[in-house]
Amino acid sequence: MYVLGIETSCDETGVAIYHSKHGLINDLLYSQIAMHNDYGGVVPELASRDHVKKLVPLIRQCLHESNLANSDINGIAYTAGPGLIGALLVGAVTARSLAWSWQIPAIGVHHMEGHLLAPMLEANPPSMPFVALLISGGHTLLIKVNTIGNYELLGESLDDAAGEAFDKTAKMLGLGYPGGPKLSQLAEKGTPQLKFPRPMTDRPGLDFSFSGLKTFTMNALNATNKSDQDKANIAAAFQEAVADTLSIKCKRALLQTGLKKLVVAGGVSANKQIRAALTQMIKKEDAEIYFPRPDFCTDNGAMIAYAGCQRLLAGQHQSLEISARPRWPLSELGRC
Ligand code: KG4
Ligand code: ZN
Repeated sequence: MYVLGIETSCDETGVAIYHSKHGLINDLLYSQIAMHNDYGGVVPELASRDHVKKLVPLIRQCLHESNLANSDINGIAYTAGPGLIGALLVGAVTARSLAWSWQIPAIGVHHMEGHLLAPMLEANPPSMPFVALLISGGHTLLIKVNTIGNYELLGESLDDAAGEAFDKTAKMLGLGYPGGPKLSQLAEKGTPQLKFPRPMTDRPGLDFSFSGLKTFTMNALNATNKSDQDKANIAAAFQEAVADTLSIKCKRALLQTGLKKLVVAGGVSANKQIRAALTQMIKKEDAEIYFPRPDFCTDNGAMIAYAGCQRLLAGQHQSLEISARPRWPLSELGRC
C-alpha cells in the first residue's frame, strides 16, 4: 500500500510517500523559516498562503521522483491537528480533494502521533511498550505507549514547551528564529559556569515547567556585560539545565513504568547535548534509547505518511468532511 503523507501544521510543507512493505519511498520538505525569520517568529497567515503555493508542486515532485503515477497511491494521510488552523486546513483540503478525485481513503493524523512514531522509520525500530518523551515547539509530553493509539499521559509541561523555552531564551540572547538550533550552536562556544535551576525536579511527579528558565536567563544576562562570551556561557548553562531536567524526568518515568525503552522525538530531540545527556542516563540504567534521524526530529511528511499508513492498514479512514483541530489532546486519539 502506497500512502502519500502531507504535513502543513506550522512552517514546513512536508510531503512523503511510504509503502507498507518497502518503507519510505521519498520525502520532501520545503521550509518557510527564511520567510518568517524577518518577523522573529511564525506569521500564521503567511504560513497558510505559502503552503497553498508550495504543497501541490511538492506533491507532483514527490510522485515524479518516485516514478509513481497518481493511480499508484492507495491512501492519503494528512496532519489534521494540532497546529495553526489555516495551515492545517490547506493540508486537509488538498488531501481530501485528491482522495475524492483519486477515489481512495484519506485519514487525518495527529501531529504528535506522527512525531511519536518517527523512530519507527529507522533501521532498528523500538517494539512497544515504551516510554516516549515528545519535545517540540508546542508540546513537552511524557507518554507510556502501549500500542499505536493506546497512550497514557505520564507528564507534561505546565507552561512553556521545551522548544518554546529554547525559542524565547534565544530571542533574549538576540538570536533569530527558530531559536533552538541557534541557541544550541552558541552554547557550543560557551561553558556552563552558572548553575540554572532544574525546575520541578525537587518534588515527585513527571510534569515539567520551563517558563522560570526565561526569567533566570534575563536576570543572568543583566548581571553581565552582555558580551558574546557571556551570552554563549548563558546559552550553555540554559541548555545544560534543560538536558539535565529532561534526563531526571525520563529516568523517573522508566522507574515508574518498569519499562527499559525510551523513545525521544520532536524538534528539540535534534539537540546534540540533550541526545547525549539522555543517552548517558540510559546507559547507566541499562536501558535502550531510540531517536529519529535528525531530519525526522523536526516536522516532516514521512512521519505523517507512516502514522497514517498504520491506521489505514487497520481499516480506519474518515468521511468526506474536511476538518482540522488546532487543539487536540493526544489522549482523545482512538486506538489503531
Ligand atoms: O517538532 P517541531 O519541528 O515543530 C513542532 O511540532 O513544534 O519542533 C520545533 C521546535 C522549535 O521550538 C525549535 O526551536 C526546536 O524544535 N528545535 C531545537 C533544535 N532543533 C529544533 N531545539 C533545540 N535544539 C535544536 N537543535
Ligand atoms: Zn512538530
